[in-house]
Amino acid sequence: MLSGIQPSGDVHLGNYVGALRNWADMQDDYDAFYCIVDLHALTLPWEPARLPGRTVQTAQILMASGIDPERATLFVQSHVPEHSELCWILNCIATMGELNRMVQFKEKTRSKAQDSASVGLFDYPVLQVADILIYDADVVPVGEDQRQHVELTRNIAQRFNNRFGETFVVPEVAVPKLGAKIYDLQEPTNKMSKTAESPRGTVMVFDEPDVIERKIKRAVTDPQSNVRFDPEHKPGVSNLLTILAVATGKAPEELAESYTEYGPLKADTAAALIEFLRPVRERYRELAEDPGETERILKLGAEKAQGVAGATLARVKDAVGLLPRA
Ligand code: TYM
Repeated sequence: MLSGIQPSGDVHLGNYVGALRNWADMQDDYDAFYCIVDLHALTLPWEPARLPGRTVQTAQILMASGIDPERATLFVQSHVPEHSELCWILNCIATMGELNRMVQFKEKTRSKAQDSASVGLFDYPVLQVADILIYDADVVPVGEDQRQHVELTRNIAQRFNNRFGETFVVPEVAVPKLGAKIYDLQEPTNKMSKTAESPRGTVMVFDEPDVIERKIKRAVTDPQSNVRFDPEHKPGVSNLLTILAVATGKAPEELAESYTEYGPLKADTAAALIEFLRPVRERYRELAEDPGETERILKLGAEKAQGVAGATLARVKDAVGLLPRA
C-alpha cells in the first residue's frame, strides 16, 4: 500500500479524516509506504526557507496520527530520486489529452491564466502515478479528490503493461466510507482545503479548542432549521453531521434524529471534534521537541523505500529497452 501527502506543515481536518487516520488503521494489514511528497510541493509557488521545516513537521503529524515508523515505511519523496526518473519514462506514456482532463489541474488554474501555470503543475499527476507504481502498490488510500489520479494510475499501468509486458501492479483506490470528502465550513459545497479563500472554513489539526469552537459555531448551514442528513439539499448541516459522526463513531443519519435545532448540533460537534483532535495535537507536541529523531526516522524510511523503488525502476528500464550501464 502507498499513499502521499504534501508537506504543508499543519494539516486540516479533511486530510486527517479522509487520509491520515485511515493510514494508521491500515498499517497492520498492509506493507505500508507513506510518502511526504515534497517534489509535488514545487508545482505552485513555495518558500524554500520554510519547506524543510514543513517537511519534518508533516512527518511528525503523521506519526502523531498513529503511523508507526517501525511498522510502516515513512519517507520523503525527494530522498528517493527513482520517483522522478520513473516519472520521466511515464511522461512518455501519458497523453496530453488525459492530463487535460484532470479536474485538480483545472481547479488550480481556474483563477489564473493557464499559460502561466508551471509545466510541473500540469505534470503533477504523472509524478503521483510514479509514486504509486514504483512500490507495486495494490491499494492507495486517499480522499475522494484523489480518486481521479488513481484512475489515471490504473490506465497508465495497463497501457504500459500492454505495450511492454507485465511490469506494473494495477492498484485499487481505497476511499473511506465516511468522511472521504469533508467540506469547507463557510462554503459547504467546496472541499475543505488549506488554500480556501477564508481560513474560517478550514479546521486545522493544530487549532486551539476555542478556535475550533468558533469555526464550528459560525459554520454556514441553511435557513430552514431542521436537522437531516441530506448532503445534496443540506450540505452545511450534513457536513457537520459527518464531522460529528467521524468524531463519535456513530452514523450521521442516526445522529440527525437526536437534534431539532442547529445550535445544539454545533455545540456537540465542536466539543466532539476538540476531543477527537486532542490526542494528535498532544503527541505532536512531544515529537516536535526532537526534529533530529524525525530526520533519523526519515533516513531509515528512505533507505527502505529506495530498495523497493530501485528494483522496480530496473525492471521498467529493461522493459522499455534502455541500455544498462556496463
Ligand atoms: P494532499 O496533500 O492534498 O492531501 C492528502 C490527503 O488528504 C485527502 N484530503 C481530503 N480528504 C477528505 N476531505 C477533504 N476535504 C480532503 N482534502 C484532502 C486527500 O485526498 C489525500 O488523500 N496528490 C496528493 C498527494 C500524493 C499522493 C501520491 C497520494 C502524491 N503522490 C500518491 C496518493 C498516492 C495530494 O496532493 O494530497
